[in-house]
Amino acid sequence: MHVMKIIVSIILSLLILAGISSPALSASEENASLPYLSLSEFLDEMDMDLERFIAQMKEFAQSGVYPHYLEKNAARYEAYRAEHPDIPFANVIAYVNVDLDKEHYLDVKEAQDFTESSILLNKTFFLPSFWSPDDLTEIGSRYLMRAEAAENILLMQNAITEDGLRLHIVSTYRPHERQVSLYNRGARSRGVAAADRNYARPGHSEHQTGLAVDLLHRSHGGSLTSARFENSELFTWLMQNAHEYGFILRYPEEYKEFHGYIFEPWHWRFVGVSIATAMHNEKMALYEEFYGRYITSDVLHRARELIYEHRAAIDAEAAAVLAAEEAAAQEAQKRDKTILRKDIINGNKKTDSLL
Ligand code: DAL
Ligand code: ZN
Repeated sequence: MHVMKIIVSIILSLLILAGISSPALSASEENASLPYLSLSEFLDEMDMDLERFIAQMKEFAQSGVYPHYLEKNAARYEAYRAEHPDIPFANVIAYVNVDLDKEHYLDVKEAQDFTESSILLNKTFFLPSFWSPDDLTEIGSRYLMRAEAAENILLMQNAITEDGLRLHIVSTYRPHERQVSLYNRGARSRGVAAADRNYARPGHSEHQTGLAVDLLHRSHGGSLTSARFENSELFTWLMQNAHEYGFILRYPEEYKEFHGYIFEPWHWRFVGVSIATAMHNEKMALYEEFYGRYITSDVLHRARELIYEHRAAIDAEAAAVLAAEEAAAQEAQKRDKTILRKDIINGNKKTDSLL
């Protein structure tokens, strides 16, 4: 009897051990403890630019692997997909990766990338009240933005002026306390629900990052909403060109249920030229989608694993592309030389005949 008990307990221990080491459980445990990996660190390590990285991620997707699929979110993807059958699965994955499946402000988290221009702040991710950027730079005498954003807004302003339009800056960096008074004033006068549609709660405003700017086509008298900025030539210009200066429209009309604000045609966010350009090229209007696909730290860890696994194939392909390019360049050089030789011969002939 005693021997039976021992055998049963050994079998039970083995079953428990097998459970602990099951792949699904260990994957989610690993995911939970992975250190933060920023996009710039990742690209440096992989020796890739953003464009190449996105092309690589697309290649994985074409071969049937969603590179931004995180095992730990599997059940949430399925639940969100069931609720939103009209949303493509790749977007479902991206949205869930940045918690868009959760109610706004229900389960808030500190943003991870305070100093990166790619930081995601929204109704989930926030900055601590004490945080302010350390490279605030003056734009004119009234406004402050982080250095790179300030430099780019000035470049964009020049380009706009050269195109015969005018750009007015209405608001830039706002310290935490200023957002407290704006939000509270809105909540007192119009109620919490209306305040939440118009203002970020303190800590959740992109204006605290020093990377956001409110822009108008004429000097600002009444409310921003009455300016009808979306119908102006300047707004059209920004939609076509702002990415070249690193800015994106952050609260687009067609994604209100995701970002949770009214359509704010005046609110532009500096994310850096390469991200803004990639979003423009990919025709991706919602920053959360871009972030959930390409910037979330866990996604970067998974992408790194996938790339290392396929590195030999990727390198061989890159080498083949390079070799083909070199061969084409040599061919073109040979052609140019032949043409040049012919020109010289013809030229000589012409010179002869002229003489
Ligand atoms: N109006 C935007 C959402 C802000 O308060 O940051
Ligand atoms: Zn704004």
